[in-house]
Amino acid sequence: MAVQDERFSLRINGSAVRTPIALASMAGVVDAAYTLARAAHVGVTFLGGFSIDEQTLEASRQMAAKGRSEFLADDPIGALRREVDALEGTGIIVGLNLRASSPDGLLRVARSIGPSVVYEIDAHCRQPEMIAVGAGEALARDLEALDAMVAALSSEGLCVSVKFRAGVAEDDRVLARRCWEAGAEILHIDLMDFGYPKIREIRNTVPLVLIANNGITSFDRMREMLSHGADLVSLARGADQRTLAGLDAAITRLEDEQGWYNSPKQLCRGGDIRSLAFCCMPVKSCPLIPTLEKIRMSRDRYIALKQEAVHETALEGGAQTCFGSLAWCCKTSSPCMFRDITLQQMGLSKREYMQAKHRLSDRIMGEVFPPRPVS
Ligand SMILES: Cc1cc2nc3c(=O)[nH]c(=O)nc-3n(C[C@H](O)[C@H](O)[C@H](O)COP(=O)(O)O)c2cc1C
Ligand code: SF4
Ligand code: SF4
Repeated sequence: MAVQDERFSLRINGSAVRTPIALASMAGVVDAAYTLARAAHVGVTFLGGFSIDEQTLEASRQMAAKGRSEFLADDPIGALRREVDALEGTGIIVGLNLRASSPDGLLRVARSIGPSVVYEIDAHCRQPEMIAVGAGEALARDLEALDAMVAALSSEGLCVSVKFRAGVAEDDRVLARRCWEAGAEILHIDLMDFGYPKIREIRNTVPLVLIANNGITSFDRMREMLSHGADLVSLARGADQRTLAGLDAAITRLEDEQGWYNSPKQLCRGGDIRSLAFCCMPVKSCPLIPTLEKIRMSRDRYIALKQEAVHETALEGGAQTCFGSLAWCCKTSSPCMFRDITLQQMGLSKREYMQAKHRLSDRIMGEVFPPRPVS
């Protein structure tokens, strides 16, 4: 069994994620005490949302006056520090969901709290008071303002997440790409009614950590998100201990049995571009050819890249398989006698095979998405 903390081969803000389940913020609700009550089954928590400058604090006061639950402290930064301190040593990665109307407020908080937390920009809140001061959902429509916030935090070496609702920006792919270019490391996406096709669209656009959110309270739905490009799922309204425990147990079992908890579906079954790791040689008419065209990779480069990537690895062998190497072989969920006999002869478990395919996929993604342009 894998060392618990590295089990999912997923790191955020320099730390291993214990389980790919996050708590999504709910203003006035999600704080350290709420997180501690669920600590056994979450890897990440996004505390807040917290309003952190005069404009957003005033918006929060107006929202509270209308009956919404809000965190309103006399000393917002002191309150944030106490929240973060209360979660120290729990092994949970802490994020702060922040509503700001300009980069200055974010920087003030960040310089005071430091790099131990993820800074999540709330580009999600749709309350009119928040939108009126240029915070929350207003940022999904004003990408220059959003860029400026992301860039301000990332240029201080901080880990930045952007939380947004799908379908608000003119084009979610443009929003995603601009966040990446400005230095964000995480996109936390409320999928609304768009479902897994949206997570796949964004997976095929940026190489960032993706958190899928909205109504993900069953393992089927969690797997749907993970197999189309999400790295984690998050829960807000449905984050009761029973649901979290069920998802945690199921995904941990899947990882331990199969070796790649968020392996993509095969490309011809609707998989995202990570699934090129399972694709054949480009010899027939199938979704591989248009996908290579879309990512502007020539067939020759695709062949050479996979050959280079598996050179002197377990995937190089496989003379009895369709294309003479496991580099071109399918997922273990697709039954195949030739692949399985090859694995048996090599003494390679299916789990190790999937882990090797994961490394191959990372290498392919590294070529499709070279290091982000420095802004
Ligand atoms: C009462 C309440 C307060 C919320 N406050 C915030 C917030 O402050 N910041 C934020 O980014 N999202 C906020 N959200 C949105 C949730 O994080 C989440 O995106 C949404 O509820 C959909 O996920 P779910 O189906 O798991 O609840 C809030 C949601 C609720 C229900
Ligand atoms: S190359 Fe093979 S796995 Fe990939 S899309 Fe075509 S048939 Fe499917
Ligand atoms: S040998 Fe089996 S697993 Fe490998 S490419 Fe052929 S059908 Fe797929």
